Amino acid sequence: VTIRVGVDKPGHEIGPRLIGAFFEDINLSGDGGLNAELIKNGSLEIPKTLLGWSTVGEGVNAAQATEAPLSAANPTFLRLTIERRRPDGGVANEGFRGMGLREGEAYRFSFQGRAEAGRSAELLVKLMDESGEAIAEGSIKVEGSAWREHEAELTPSKTAKRGALQIWLKSGRLVDLDSISLCTTDTWQGRRHGLRRDLVQLLADLKPAFFRFPGGCIVEGSQLKYRYQWKTTIGPRDERRLIVNRWNTEFAHRPTPDYYQSFAVGFYEYFLLSEEIGAEPLPIINCGMACQFNTGELVPLDELGPYIQDALDLIEFANGPADSEWGAKRAAMGHPEPFGMKLLGVGNEQWGPEYFERYERFAKVLAERHPEIELISTSGPFPSGERFDYAWPLLRKMDVPIVDEHCYAMPDWFLREAHRYDDYDREGPEVFMGEYAAQSVQIVSPRNRNTLRCALAEAAFLTGVDRNSDIVTMSAYAPLLAHEDGWQWRPNLMWYDNLTSYGTPSYYVQQLFSQHKGDRALPVEVNDARPPAPIAGRFGLGSHNTAVEYRSIAVTKDGETIWAADKQLDAEDFIVHDGEWDVQPGLLAQPRRSGSARVVFGSADWADATLTCQARKTGGREGFS
Ligand code: AHR
Repeated sequence: VTIRVGVDKPGHEIGPRLIGAFFEDINLSGDGGLNAELIKNGSLEIPKTLLGWSTVGEGVNAAQATEAPLSAANPTFLRLTIERRRPDGGVANEGFRGMGLREGEAYRFSFQGRAEAGRSAELLVKLMDESGEAIAEGSIKVEGSAWREHEAELTPSKTAKRGALQIWLKSGRLVDLDSISLCTTDTWQGRRHGLRRDLVQLLADLKPAFFRFPGGCIVEGSQLKYRYQWKTTIGPRDERRLIVNRWNTEFAHRPTPDYYQSFAVGFYEYFLLSEEIGAEPLPIINCGMACQFNTGELVPLDELGPYIQDALDLIEFANGPADSEWGAKRAAMGHPEPFGMKLLGVGNEQWGPEYFERYERFAKVLAERHPEIELISTSGPFPSGERFDYAWPLLRKMDVPIVDEHCYAMPDWFLREAHRYDDYDREGPEVFMGEYAAQSVQIVSPRNRNTLRCALAEAAFLTGVDRNSDIVTMSAYAPLLAHEDGWQWRPNLMWYDNLTSYGTPSYYVQQLFSQHKGDRALPVEVNDARPPAPIAGRFGLGSHNTAVEYRSIAVTKDGETIWAADKQLDAEDFIVHDGEWDVQPGLLAQPRRSGSARVVFGSADWADATLTCQARKTGGREGFS
């Protein structure tokens, strides 16, 4: 084999954005993950429930209350009242799948509190381990009827992986508590209410060129009212509006009906984090569409104004002078200098004409008002790894600068698609491979593992990205983070529990490519005189989010039919990668409702053969194939 590198042609420069990071609050990676806060529902704003809280001991009642709250933006608080003269009880908070508490580490417990006019209440705060033993204690006195901030530092005498916090009312008749927080003092950059240091360090060690936030499907929301609205995620922590997370039930192997977004980590924190890890910020905004895997709710075209305004205001928040309306909000949070945002994604993973007509409206206004911002458009979801045939002609016609492709597929697909971009149109938009991961089985199940084979397939794929970096200018693995007891999706790049965290083999592939990115991609010529190695010929038929009936399937080689669907199919012809196919002799019917599926069948003799298939689409959404 002769390999010649850099002969005759100079190759092309590899741009600075090749390997980035994708963050979404999925798998408890916001609250319960990046956010070092240990209290679940410390704002008490989840309607009609004391989620995360329970009573302990006896004689103390706990309820949500709203009279004379801390502020109009934070109207609900926790009221503890005694039910009998000598109470011996209080409330406990369970944290996010427990609380990680480290021996000898200082934790700051704080809250806004008040008692009754002219009276006081005494609280005993305890950190508990899994066995119910108190591993730290502190007392706090709350006096008078005006809201005041209180705090105590607690240092556990033992480490607990699934600890808890308890607040006992020791004296007094009533106490109101709000904005309750328990956070290690050992956060990233030592910030109060900061980020979990080990997770940020892992992320920083990837040296991502850009940091995409806040997702993912949560940009869209299951309904428009639950879409990500960046303006409600900035400003004082106590005033950020909480919503239910779109990942509550969808794809939930372990249903997590308690999954909310407190937005304690919001857009300001994402911009700051990007800056601190040396990554370009890449926010994605809602384009007037809810997640099409859920309701697909649409904002009428003539009512898109506020959505487009959100994009304009975001640019001002990130880049505007400190005396502009939105720049002033950034400055008030501690960052008078602009964040230098250059990229903006319009919509997450939308498809169909309804997306393109909305994108066009955003693009028109943004091009006029902010020609310096590079827009990223989506091309839809293709988890079974098909080509984006529907979207690309339209994207080219609209002269979109950068197109976001998403691919979740089996390792074989990534190996094969190392050549994906070799023949992409060099005159067309740039490609952002914005979400991808090799899946060991193509379903969201505990069997879907971060295997070494997955990582190697991703590495092979990245050699193609690197070689074609004149057209593929950006890429990001997804999702980034997952809590081992709270995931909805897998595989993920990094995993953690309440105390520890680690990078998967895929993480080290990302790190390898990002830390050792070249400046130029040189042309490579390979002369291999060896006879082709025998390959296991396999043909795959796939469809995504649609119902298909296969009518006829034939395989021909050298002009001869070597297999046809009227032949009785036997089990060896098929490897069903996803359990929901209905395989029948002579006919494949796929009655799937959602997700993706693929059947691979064939044998080694089928190498270099041609497969012809006639299929009929019997249901599903437009735009899927
Ligand atoms: O990465 C997980 C999900 O996959 C993202 O939220 C979505 O964009 C894609 O479908």
